[in-house]
Amino acid sequence: MKSYNIAVIGGDGTGPEVTKEAVKVLGAASAKFGFKLNYSDYDLGGDRYLRTNEALPSSVVEELRGFPAILLGAIGHPDVKPGILEKGILLRLRFELEQYINLRPVKLYDERFCPLKDKGPKDIDFVVVRENNEGLYTGSGGFVFKGTPHEIAVQESINTRRGVERCLRYAFEYARKRNKDKKLTLCGKTNVLTFAFDLWERAFHEVGKKDFPDIQRDYAHVDATTMWFVKNPEWFDVIVTDNMFGDIITDLGAMIQGGMGIAAGGNINPAGASMFEPIGGSAPKYTGQGVINPLAAICAGAMMLDFLGESEAAKAIEASVIKVTREKVKSLAAGKMGHTTSQLGDLVASAI
Ligand code: IPM
Ligand code: MN
Repeated sequence: MKSYNIAVIGGDGTGPEVTKEAVKVLGAASAKFGFKLNYSDYDLGGDRYLRTNEALPSSVVEELRGFPAILLGAIGHPDVKPGILEKGILLRLRFELEQYINLRPVKLYDERFCPLKDKGPKDIDFVVVRENNEGLYTGSGGFVFKGTPHEIAVQESINTRRGVERCLRYAFEYARKRNKDKKLTLCGKTNVLTFAFDLWERAFHEVGKKDFPDIQRDYAHVDATTMWFVKNPEWFDVIVTDNMFGDIITDLGAMIQGGMGIAAGGNINPAGASMFEPIGGSAPKYTGQGVINPLAAICAGAMMLDFLGESEAAKAIEASVIKVTREKVKSLAAGKMGHTTSQLGDLVASAI
């Protein structure tokens, strides 16, 4: 029997509660489709940091590198200054494990959960491929004259031809494999960021023309993209963009697909340890109450199976999530689902 070693980082707040449900559903899927998942738990997050003053030991990074996949709950703790855990754990893993793709599907499962008028599941079904290792996220920059009236803060966007091109190639391949409209939209800001997006745009057309002539190329400025997400989301198939723009537009994407309760993503190194997570945060105010929606974490689990090559099992989880959300869920918002966190996990698991 095939078996996969999975690292689980429950993390902060409601993270452990939702990963528990994901593991429950993954268990039902693996039993049905005949493979085994061996879990190793990692205690990382705010509590560990407060206890040990270390967010992520290098030895743990090296251990995690040895897993094909990592399931992550959430990172972020009310008693830890913003930035420490995000940079020290989440971004560090994305960078050191070279998870250079952040894959974020935006798919509406039921009309009732869409805040847009006259839009339904057939209109909201696209995928954002967010560059995950460069841009404004590298920490390049610094202060001069800090704390004085002359203070200067510089935060640089790093865009390498190699980093941009590998992201574009992934996105083109994805559009081909997805086989929907075979359309890839570059989301940028070529009218203002005339260096960074000049590189992106040239690479986009060069790579597309040479190696992906079957994929239609389209372009939208990031500000216009947010407008189209609301007005004409049906125009999109696959979108590729840089790290910062990808961060921003996928929060909007999450809202039009029904909210953070359902939005999942994968931090992907196509040749290495990839990490799957619900994209909402640690939701401290809901911690421990059994009211948080586990569906995003469950969907992250499905993305993980797809990455591991268990695509039938991944599809079965998605189908169960669709069935349960359509037939049994009142709302995707925490506390309003009509079920507890664990009951909802049970419903999806038994629908498999
Ligand atoms: C996300 C989050 C992170 C990001 C934060 C927590 C660092 O917002 O995964 O979208 O900005 O990438
Ligand atoms: Mn974000």
